[in-house]
Amino acid sequence: MTEQFEFTTNEHNVHDTADTSVFGEDVRSDARQIIARYPEPRSALLPMLHLVQSVQGYVSPAGIRFCAEQLALSTAEVSAVATFYTMYKRKPCGQHLVSVCTNTLCAALGGDAIYRRLSEHLGVGHDETAGTPGEEGSITLEHAECLAACDLAPVLQVNYEYFDNQTPESALDLVKALQRGEKPAPTRGPALTDFRGAERQLAGFFDDLESTVAGPSAAPETVRGAQLAHERGWTAPSMPDDAELPPLPEKR
Ligand code: FES
Repeated sequence: MTEQFEFTTNEHNVHDTADTSVFGEDVRSDARQIIARYPEPRSALLPMLHLVQSVQGYVSPAGIRFCAEQLALSTAEVSAVATFYTMYKRKPCGQHLVSVCTNTLCAALGGDAIYRRLSEHLGVGHDETAGTPGEEGSITLEHAECLAACDLAPVLQVNYEYFDNQTPESALDLVKALQRGEKPAPTRGPALTDFRGAERQLAGFFDDLESTVAGPSAAPETVRGAQLAHERGWTAPSMPDDAELPPLPEKR
């Protein structure tokens, strides 16, 4: 059974007494760099939570306390944010996070069948991990809401990188390759790392910027409309200078 922290009436005691020594001087130096990007330390909370996940693979009680100490927030304020967003994990994530879009368009085109096939193969359900979290070949599976790539449905992501136009068979081949320790190339975007590596990038650290930006960035399906408009000389009408704008509501 994987470790998971639960939010109970005494949750803040858990966070306030957690041992933060897992965050060594190198992480504290990264934290200072993140905080320096913002006029107010508290504004750095979202990338700080990604930094914590890059170290531990989830937002642990120690991670909550570390963020609170670094940003002069209470542990209650940090945990309120960490539990609001699904990208912040409350139990240790696998080496790879596989997110299958099962929102309307992907589901209709096979997303549900993809999720079912992967769930059967891995023997886990939503937000569960096959294998020991963090170890090579371990996979956390999750349902995802629309991944903003409906023109390429059905899609899935591995560590937030896209694999477009999937089938149950192609998705299964992909997951088996991940379990063997391989890192197949995403359809678009940078080469695969692992969940913790992706979290470091989300914290704003690109240790190998060249390879991070090397992948294809746009699918032909996505830019087809713009290309057709360009070929046919279609443009949107410009805004007339004397256009009447609706009145702004009064501030209360
Ligand atoms: S419904 Fe799957 S990407 Fe939009």
